[in-house]
Amino acid sequence: MLSYLNDYMSKQKYTVTAALPYANGPLHLGHIAGVYLPADIFVRFMRMKKEDVLFVCGSDEHGAAITLRAKKENSTPQAIVDKYHTINKKAFADFNISFDIYSRTSNQIHHETAQDYFKKLNANGSFVEKTTEQYYDTEFKQFLADRYITGTCPKCGNDNAYGDQCEKCGSALSPTDLINPVSTLSGKSPVLKETSHWFLPMERHEDWLRTWIKEGVLNGKQHHNVKDWRNQVIGQCMSWIDGGLHPRAMTRDLDWGVKVPLPNAEGKVLYVWLDAPIGYISATKEWALENGKNWEDYWTGDTKLVHFIGKDNIVFHTIIFPILLKEHGDYILPDNVPAYEFLNLEGDKFSTSRNWAVWLHEFMAENPTKTDELKYTLTCIAPESKDSEFTWKEYQARVNNELADILGNFVNRAIVLTDKYFQGEVPERGELQDIDKDVLKELAAYPAKLDDLIMRYKLRDAQTEAMNLARLGNKYLAETEPWKLAKTDLIRVKTIMNIALQITANLTIAFEPFLPQKSREIAHFLNIGNLDWNLAGSDSILAAGHKLNQPAILIEKVDDAFVEAQVQKLEATKMETASSFAKQKENISFDDFTKMDIRTGKILAAERVPKADKLLKLTVDTGLDKRTVVSGIAEHYTPEAVIGKTVAILMNLAPRTIRGVESQGMILMAENGEGKLSFVSPETGFEGGCEIR
Ligand code: 2FM
Ligand code: ZN
Repeated sequence: MLSYLNDYMSKQKYTVTAALPYANGPLHLGHIAGVYLPADIFVRFMRMKKEDVLFVCGSDEHGAAITLRAKKENSTPQAIVDKYHTINKKAFADFNISFDIYSRTSNQIHHETAQDYFKKLNANGSFVEKTTEQYYDTEFKQFLADRYITGTCPKCGNDNAYGDQCEKCGSALSPTDLINPVSTLSGKSPVLKETSHWFLPMERHEDWLRTWIKEGVLNGKQHHNVKDWRNQVIGQCMSWIDGGLHPRAMTRDLDWGVKVPLPNAEGKVLYVWLDAPIGYISATKEWALENGKNWEDYWTGDTKLVHFIGKDNIVFHTIIFPILLKEHGDYILPDNVPAYEFLNLEGDKFSTSRNWAVWLHEFMAENPTKTDELKYTLTCIAPESKDSEFTWKEYQARVNNELADILGNFVNRAIVLTDKYFQGEVPERGELQDIDKDVLKELAAYPAKLDDLIMRYKLRDAQTEAMNLARLGNKYLAETEPWKLAKTDLIRVKTIMNIALQITANLTIAFEPFLPQKSREIAHFLNIGNLDWNLAGSDSILAAGHKLNQPAILIEKVDDAFVEAQVQKLEATKMETASSFAKQKENISFDDFTKMDIRTGKILAAERVPKADKLLKLTVDTGLDKRTVVSGIAEHYTPEAVIGKTVAILMNLAPRTIRGVESQGMILMAENGEGKLSFVSPETGFEGGCEIR
């Protein structure tokens, strides 16, 4: 009766999502440490507790991330998503990430779900149809939204911010926010052109969003415990809301994506940030169909929705998607959005374009049995509250000094000593001494600590707590020294080994969410199956007389050669990148150099040179004079953007007449590998005609 009541009462469900990665490239350790691994740990813990939890993910196959990649690889969007969906799905499976479903947004069920959702909101009056001026690339005849346009971030000054967000500071942007916008298609400054779209008037939602995010209150009721939301998540949301919410276009002029399901919407698709989160719902539907479940149970009622994401996805999951969910009316809002900061690699940012990354599929191909070693290290350094760094040295240290020397060592000693003194049979426990009672007390206390930490998304600390159990075991053996007592008091050794083995059994529970493979191996040594969370903390998991299996090495140490090889591999990619820069020119004499008169100068005025796309006519204050210089930078800077800049100018280049204008000098520019130009500007205080030598 009680268990029936229990089942009936435990209607609470959890829907856990992990950000749908763009199928535009392989996954690297930065993605894994800051989204997929923590989500997997959380879900495994819930499953162990027998909670009704659903874990969904899949490929995000729309948006400019895909079409631009296709262009870069000289391929088609379809071929790109097919390629990377397959690679990423396999890498996740190999790494033992236990999604209930890994779907994709190109599936028909998703297109239909997203279109129905859009139609419902449109019929509700949730959108406003407006004609506005948007940036347009005249050469490619395309409107430029999202990643089709880059420029300087108005918030942090990053020169490579996208039209929808700045990956450096995580701010969500609109193309018109960018300073010096440039088309990523042609590399030119865009023009403004009229187009009509469906906008989400986000400003209508400011009030309820504020109370929901700051206090966890929704419709006058406590919705979630706001203390469990990360500070940086609340901070980013509030700064966005405080900056004022504005209408945001929910459709795009593109031919790749979910078609806008309305008449007169030819050539328009849904905005990827409308379509992708609905992908969580479509994936739930797909899973439910395949598993005989009712998908709505996981999006309505008492169910708790949890989104694991990276920090660059925060406002999309805490503001835009919640507005869409609320406007729809039938669905729940997120209970928490544990967002992760960024992971760096060996002193530098992960970078797909520079190939500065450890790719998950490569690691798995080269080290197929090292899943849990990598999991352990990534959880130790997970960027929960600030950016963190992965180095191969740290990987080695974590594996050798913690996994092998603490966990592996304890498990090995417990089983080997039992084998030696009791022929592999769990001995009986006799009378307990104080030291035994203290250890059993600590053993009984870990489940509550682990539970509390995991349910508050503090997974780093939770893993430390699991390792503390192995530390407890080591300390117990070191203090009781059964190997010495064995000669004189085998009865006492029985009690000690019984307790050590109960701790070992508990380690299979404590580590199951973090190291599922190792947990299974330990269970195999103990000759037991998966243990229930109800047994966590118990000192009687293994009955006296139970026969153990033969032990084997649980964790192999990582040698220096492995670390060196990995670092070498990364360094080699750095060399390759460097070799794509122009070769050094022939040597010149010092006299040749001193002939050049280079100074700093301030641009006072700028205008386009008629009928010359590339040229700007600049008036530059050189300290000596105010002179005219014609510069080929019009595709990179608008006239307005250059006025007031201090630049480097070659003063004594013989004057030349370009398109009828005499140019008295040359502005020096830096050019990157993609042909983008930037001024070479001195620090403040060096504006007035300083010589550059
Ligand atoms: O940042 C990204 O990789 C996005 N594709 C995440 C989408 S999350 C969700 F909304 F689908
Ligand atoms: Zn920024």
